[in-house]
Amino acid sequence: SHRIMLGPLVAAIDQGTSSTRFLVFNSKTAELLSHHQVEIKQSFPKEGWVEEDPKEILQSVYECMERTCEKLTQLNIDISNIKAIGVTNQRETTLVWDKETGEPLYNAIVWLDLRTQSTVENLINKTPGRNKNHLKHKTGLPISTYFSAVKLRWLMDNVKEVHEAVVSHRAMFGTVDSWLIWCLTGGKSGGVHCTDVTNASRTMLFNIHTMDWDAELCKYFGIPMEILPRVRSSSEIYGLMKSGALSGIPISGCLGDQSAALVGQMCFQDGQAKNTYGTGCFLLRNTGAKPVMSEHGLLTTVAYKLGRDKPACYALEGSVAIAGAVVRWLQDNLGIIGSSEELVGTSYGCYFVPAFSGLYAPYWEPSARGIICGLTQFTNKRHLAFAALEAVCFQTREILDAMNQDSGIPLTQLQVDGGMTSNKLLMQLQADILCIPVVKPSMPETTALGAAMAAGAAEGVSVWSLNPDDLSEVTSEKFEPQINPEESEFRYARWKRANHCYCLSLL
Ligand code: G3P
Repeated sequence: SHRIMLGPLVAAIDQGTSSTRFLVFNSKTAELLSHHQVEIKQSFPKEGWVEEDPKEILQSVYECMERTCEKLTQLNIDISNIKAIGVTNQRETTLVWDKETGEPLYNAIVWLDLRTQSTVENLINKTPGRNKNHLKHKTGLPISTYFSAVKLRWLMDNVKEVHEAVVSHRAMFGTVDSWLIWCLTGGKSGGVHCTDVTNASRTMLFNIHTMDWDAELCKYFGIPMEILPRVRSSSEIYGLMKSGALSGIPISGCLGDQSAALVGQMCFQDGQAKNTYGTGCFLLRNTGAKPVMSEHGLLTTVAYKLGRDKPACYALEGSVAIAGAVVRWLQDNLGIIGSSEELVGTSYGCYFVPAFSGLYAPYWEPSARGIICGLTQFTNKRHLAFAALEAVCFQTREILDAMNQDSGIPLTQLQVDGGMTSNKLLMQLQADILCIPVVKPSMPETTALGAAMAAGAAEGVSVWSLNPDDLSEVTSEKFEPQINPEESEFRYARWKRANHCYCLSLL
């Protein structure tokens, strides 16, 4: 059998909250050649707590790499054509490990975790005017359970092993990108301890103007700066793979998953936006070279910096904590199948606000909790499933409205991606609720594509051009709004009432 000749290939590790993937793209056509995916276990040791096992995360990456390489070989594609690997990851999730033993010192505390709720409330109470935006001028973020700094503080205060490692200068902190890159480039024998500007911008320890760790912020949270990874751009060679079939290949791209999706959707222009439906749901709008501070509850975040000497681009972000997670909840906790179930087309007046982890944008209220209301004897599980999926669309509507208010220029269509977008009825429902067209690329793995693009474009790799003129055409599917706007407004207003009357009234 003969080997197929292809251009240089670029791979991406996509380590999300619910699963890990490894994907290989043709750098000339952006075509996805092969991939493998493994689910990640989440544990909920106490109410509101969410943890994952760092070793399982690492193992899942190795497994996905091996399986993908096997699949490529079966396709007669030579894996030596892989020229670079990009990393993209669930953001904020916080890890501490021992640099001498290479062992994690606790589970990864997942971004959704609420154990720091009281710490956050105390911090806010101590600010002048009880202002949750006290640190926003530097970080672009409200003080919230969401970001890494409070999780890291919790680990230092509550886990003896972490405390001891910090005191004896053996501790390394990182988000998932740092943990993976450190392990893959050699771990305790010479691994590279780094992160990129997009991941760093989610820790609350990073100054988005100076583009570096901020001594004052570190002092505020009591974090010793020596445990932090070095901050690099999103596209440069960080190190080489140390073992396995891909040993010697440079890791040269690193972006938080939402930033990677923005790149993968080619949103390089000021004003371009995308919404990704994963575990949560994240709408990012590129604001170009300047950070724009939101007046409507959105975050200001680093979008990407594609090379050491390239300028940073910023984004406004509307974050929704629970999107795909509500489907998993229906399945795991209620035994109702959500995703594969046919949408019934209505919930018959049933409304669902899945504020399981408090409410993120635009409210930032950690004490909010979820509600299902409008039940009658007629209500069945299909109506509940519909209400849950409709909630994802309503939450998107809420952040789109905030985004439009902040920028003054309403989006005329919404580019979407992520697992849930394979549900056509859901995408139609989204277009109906937003009253603008929803556009989905035919290659759904835009997050991985963005990381692969960053890796392939890095100096010293240079197999992927990021010049918009050279980028291959993307084919897409468009969903036009079909119901009348009044009906859509009515439903949205009802849902908002459920949200305001119950979820936010708990405060
Ligand atoms: O901020 C959290 C986000 O990065 C997680 O993304 O795709 O795992 O829901 P996802």
